[in-house]
Amino acid sequence: MNIILLGPPGAGKGTQARILVEERNMVQLSTGDMLREAKDSGTEMGKVVAEVMASGNLVTDEIVIGLIREKLETTEAAGFIFDGFPRTLKQADALGELLEEMGQTLDKVVELRVEDEALVKRITARSTCGDCGEVYNDVTKPIPADGKCVKCGGTEFKRRADDNEDSLRTRLMAYYKQTSPLIGYYYHAGIHSRVDGLGEIDEIKAAIAEKLDS
Ligand code: AP5
Ligand code: MG
Repeated sequence: MNIILLGPPGAGKGTQARILVEERNMVQLSTGDMLREAKDSGTEMGKVVAEVMASGNLVTDEIVIGLIREKLETTEAAGFIFDGFPRTLKQADALGELLEEMGQTLDKVVELRVEDEALVKRITARSTCGDCGEVYNDVTKPIPADGKCVKCGGTEFKRRADDNEDSLRTRLMAYYKQTSPLIGYYYHAGIHSRVDGLGEIDEIKAAIAEKLDS
């Protein structure tokens, strides 16, 4: 099964994708994570995208479609979870074509709905493990008192350059202007469903499972 987790910054796409990876043996394809890797590796492309990402604007369709194409061509999986991709109608069309070329289909699109006020609170309190990427939150899921990641024992934690109120405003606007039209696009395709993303992580996990298994 190939699925998209769709939602604004801070909706919980990454958090829920990691749970699905563990529980369903699926592969998470996060364009945000791929772009951050490119940025950290100091490649030419990394340098180009660093500034765009910090501002909160979208990186060009060509770059992200290229990244996804490469991953799809080189990764074996029981199913893919697209996290943060597609983000524009052009990307959505490209994903459809790529899957078709592989003889695969896109099965479900689950939209995580969270109001803006909660998103700001979540994003400004987020950190991640520098080793395994486990996602933490100062308020709702703090780093353990011993300073060790619950998943891998790592002791270094990172905050994202775009997790500030200014960039977040731009990211939210990009979501509403460029990405939210995908809700109608996938509704029309008959594969869209919506989950209330405002609740306990486990409750949301269960609500997503219900959509995927129905
Ligand atoms: P990307 O990395 O995709 O970021 P995003 O879409 O802004 O989403 P986030 O990762 O911030 O949020 P999330 O939904 O994953 O939430 P999380 O689970 O971490 O993209 C970053 C940038 O890269 C873009 O701005 C753009 O520049 C570029 N980019 C990426 N893809 C692109 C594309 N396809 N095209 C063009 N440009 C692209 O949770 C957030 C916080 O909330 C955490 O602290 C977590 O612990 C907490 N939390 C999660 N669930 C709950 C809950 N139920 N209750 C309470 N707290 C919760
Ligand atoms: Mg994420």
